[in-house]
Amino acid sequence: TMKCSKLVEVGRRQFLRGGVIGAAGAAAATFVSPSEARAQALALVDYPANRLANIADLAVNEPMHVTYPDEDSPGVLLKLGKAVAGGAGPDGDIVAFSVLCPHKGWPLTYHADDMTLNCPGHFSRFDCEAGGQQTWGHATQNLPQFSLRVDDKGDIYAEGVDELIYGRLSNVL
Ligand code: FES
Repeated sequence: TMKCSKLVEVGRRQFLRGGVIGAAGAAAATFVSPSEARAQALALVDYPANRLANIADLAVNEPMHVTYPDEDSPGVLLKLGKAVAGGAGPDGDIVAFSVLCPHKGWPLTYHADDMTLNCPGHFSRFDCEAGGQQTWGHATQNLPQFSLRVDDKGDIYAEGVDELIYGRLSNVL
C-alpha cells in the first residue's frame, strides 16, 4: 500500500544518512587525534649525552647511583655480569634505570640476589635483566631504562630514556 512504501522510503533515507556519517567517521579515524599528536610531540625530546661513569668504576652486581637526564632524576647504573636486554659495553651487560617507581614515585632499592629493583611503597618489582619489566605490582608501565653508549675508553654515556620518568610530562624539562 501507499503507507507501507512511504515507511520503507523513510527507512531507506535514514539508512543512507547513517551510511554517510559512518563514512565520515572512518575518514576521521585515519587522522592522528589531538591526544596522540601531543604524545608524539612529547616523545620527540632532545636528550643530553651525559657521562655516567667508566667501566673501571663498576663492580659486577653492585649498583652505582647516577642521575639522568638531570640531577632531579635519580637512577642506578649496573654491570650485571651477563648480556641482557638493552645491555651496553663489550659484554652487553651494563644497564641503567630510573629508580623512581612509576606507580607513585617511591625510591626503589636494588636486590642483588635476583637483580630486581623493588618498591617499599606498594611492593612493585622490576626485572633489571629484562629491560625493567614489572614482574609484580601496581605500576601501569615498566621501569624507564636509560639508553647507554660505551666509548673506546670505557666511558659510559646515557643518551635517552624509553619510558616517561615518574612525575614528569616530559623526560627533559
Ligand atoms: Fe611503588 Fe606504589 S610507589 S608500588
